[in-house]
Amino acid sequence: MAQRESWATRTGFILAAVGSAVGLGNIWRFPYQVGEQGGAAFLIIYLLLIIGVGFPVILVEFVVGRHTERNPVGALKRIGSGAWTKIGWVFVTAGFVILSYYSVVAGWTLRYVLIGLQGDYSADAAPAQFGQAASGLDAVFLHALFMAAVIVIVAFGIERGIELSVKFMVPAIIIISVGLAAYAFTLEGAGEAYAYYLTPEISTIAENWTTILPAAAAQAFFTLSLGMGVMITYASYLGEDRNMASDAGIIATLDTFIAFTAGLIAFPILFAAGIEPGASGPALIFVSLAAAFAELPLGGILGAVFFATVAIAALSSAISIMEVVVAYLIDEHGISRVPATAALGVAMFLVGVPAALDLIFVSLYDGFANSILLMLGGLLLSVFVGWVVPDLAIDEIGKGIRNVGSLGRAWLWFVRVPVVLALIVLVALNALDYWSFLTGGFAEWLSTNL
Ligand code: PFF
Repeated sequence: MAQRESWATRTGFILAAVGSAVGLGNIWRFPYQVGEQGGAAFLIIYLLLIIGVGFPVILVEFVVGRHTERNPVGALKRIGSGAWTKIGWVFVTAGFVILSYYSVVAGWTLRYVLIGLQGDYSADAAPAQFGQAASGLDAVFLHALFMAAVIVIVAFGIERGIELSVKFMVPAIIIISVGLAAYAFTLEGAGEAYAYYLTPEISTIAENWTTILPAAAAQAFFTLSLGMGVMITYASYLGEDRNMASDAGIIATLDTFIAFTAGLIAFPILFAAGIEPGASGPALIFVSLAAAFAELPLGGILGAVFFATVAIAALSSAISIMEVVVAYLIDEHGISRVPATAALGVAMFLVGVPAALDLIFVSLYDGFANSILLMLGGLLLSVFVGWVVPDLAIDEIGKGIRNVGSLGRAWLWFVRVPVVLALIVLVALNALDYWSFLTGGFAEWLSTNL
């Protein structure tokens, strides 16, 4: 193998990992999940899961990546044997399905850039406007455009693309989000919104834990880019002098900060406009923010800048997803990078077309890949690292940490038992939820549309 590339600076690695983590998951998916799952009850469970499951599983992926210096599939072949080498299949399938609809939603953000530039945000027409943006040929076209951008960047190598875009993107997202949250703070109804978002009621959790828990776990995995090998890949370029635990902490904190801020923006705006936060589903931020920008001086331009930033955040996440699947085709099937990327991009585009035409397919794909496959990938990898290669894991986690003491063992046992058990329960709950979606909402859709 030729001399392997590695991150030029620690910031380069952290920003790239943050670039993958921060995306539509934070700004689009998080607020509507909070809305659907009843506000603060969801938020608190979500935060607990980020700390208790997300953080240890980031380290599971980091350990595998840095130790093997390989892509996810190659990594498992190197240190695993037999059925363990097949975990890569779960990663690859998840990546394929996720990118096919991720690109559709990114297409909506491009549409909202155009609407802003034309000065057409409107408080009254916001829901109808979303209906138009999220269906029909325009949505298919913008989905194609976004996928084309992903193909081009990944086909021509990602080093410069990723490093460069994240350097601007991450600070821009933070500044714009904080600015919008400050604006939202001034709105009438903000107090009520904060109460909804920030005051958890134990009774809501007790009554709805079977839906809140799996939804929050799926969101935690999605937002941290876990369960499909992205963090394995990024850590494979990481030097042994780095303290992976503190890097993982920074990544999880920044990612959570941006999701949390997205809620501070969306809910006051929704409450001010009298829109019920649980009612809009995937339309939530598009409807609420378009309505808010309509009221602001220079709102069209501001909105265009905001949605463009979201699109760039989506791009840096999308690239990381594509890279995992492309690396698999290159390594396992000897296909070269350009045809592999182009063929995959076209296939993902086609699979995504139904999602561009009808929202129900966004839920169909999202539920399967995000709520089941990502968590299954995380579960299998945790069992593998915790039980099959524990010595290697302990050795690797300690590198770059001074006086690691018994912390490595504590982490290992935490992954081995509580994390694995929690993930078994969470995958099962998510599978049940998905089953009720398939036999409920989706079956209904099929019977009225076919
Ligand atoms: N973390 C990304 C987001 O929040 O938008 C989405 C994502 C990227 C999920 C990479 C999974 C992944 F492997």
